[in-house]
Amino acid sequence: MKVLVCGGAGYIGSHTCTELAARGHEVLILDNFGNASPRVLDHLKRATGRRLDCVTADIRDESALHAVFKSFSADVIVHFAALKSVGESWQKPLDYFDNNISGTIVLLRVMREFGVRRLIFSSSATVYGAPDACPIRENAPLRVTNPYGRTKLVMEELIGDLCAASPGFRAAILRYFNPVGAHPSGLLGEDPSGPPNNLMPYLCQVAVGRRNKLSVFGNDYPTHDGTGVRDYIHVMDLARAHVDAIDYLESKDRNLTVNLGTGHGYSVLDIMHTFEHVSKRKIPFEFCPRRAGDVAICYADPGAAAELMGWHAQFGIERMCEDAWRWQSLFPRGYAE
Ligand code: NAD
Ligand code: WQD
Repeated sequence: MKVLVCGGAGYIGSHTCTELAARGHEVLILDNFGNASPRVLDHLKRATGRRLDCVTADIRDESALHAVFKSFSADVIVHFAALKSVGESWQKPLDYFDNNISGTIVLLRVMREFGVRRLIFSSSATVYGAPDACPIRENAPLRVTNPYGRTKLVMEELIGDLCAASPGFRAAILRYFNPVGAHPSGLLGEDPSGPPNNLMPYLCQVAVGRRNKLSVFGNDYPTHDGTGVRDYIHVMDLARAHVDAIDYLESKDRNLTVNLGTGHGYSVLDIMHTFEHVSKRKIPFEFCPRRAGDVAICYADPGAAAELMGWHAQFGIERMCEDAWRWQSLFPRGYAE
């Protein structure tokens, strides 16, 4: 199929492109490079053995989208293009509403104009807010706890309304838990600009000597060791799920909303110790106060993705840490190397 990957130069998008290419799809990346390096394209070439086409454009730019849709008659859109930092979304809510929500509206409108009727959408466990119970199923209450999360929930709802109004339009809403890890080649990985907000890239940067120590946010949670528990999911398992979701929309001709996680919760210290084991590096750390907005425990019930798409996560936390570390040790400064 012809697949337009909006935000395809980013962390999850670039990994998904390798899986799309491996499964024989024709890929066009569209990205504004607001949070990605153009060098990812060279790395993608080395990882896949071929250069993937790429257009530099913003999804809010309707005329640019027209030109792209005219020259590339996509069968399906995989939509990763969003701002994604919870903390930044408190500082710049309008930027988040504009980029994420307005951008998605423009994209949906152009899809309708060009008769493109398949969408794979990156949602997030953030739509569950502070969950009442774990594991979380897809029918759990949806709540918003920050502006970024609001954009994801609004976008899910917009897409749902459009599906209801448009016979033949089909969407897969994929709610990722905590994506980590890297391509097994070590050629692609997560490369945040500025200090990382998330645990795994922070650990990697401490291990490689770019940061002095890890701050562990809170050791008084009601968990087995007092630190926060999350459902970490290998980015290559996520990548595979996108291609499976394309197959699902084609073969079943139904919409889909599924969690993508392993169903297992690991604490910050579990991850840190596993990372130390696989990297053979000691991670200096200190306990700090809880981070505002964090919940104690969050992990998925991934049963629906298994039942509907036959998708299961294959990789455990050792492999997530190994692959993240291979990428970081090969490219200590990420794509700036
Ligand atoms: P990322 O920032 O690495 O990738 C997003 C890509 O989209 C970047 O390359 C960026 O340049 C591009 N982009 C952003 N706005 C754009 C616009 N207006 N027009 C064109 N390109 C634009 O982030 P990621 O971690 O790969 O996340 C991908 C998607 O998954 C996002 O929608 C994010 O909200 C969602 N998600 C991420 C996580 C996570 O922890 N990484 C968890 C749940 C959901
Ligand atoms: C994991 C655990 C922290 C950094 C975020 C978004 C969520 C989704 C995924 C997009 C927590 C602890 C972290 C550090 C730490 N993104 N931690 N020291 O917060 O579960 O989820 O990314 O949709 O919406 O909120 O991920 O990696 O930031 O934190 O102790 O330097 O690690 O407190 O317990 P989080 P995270």
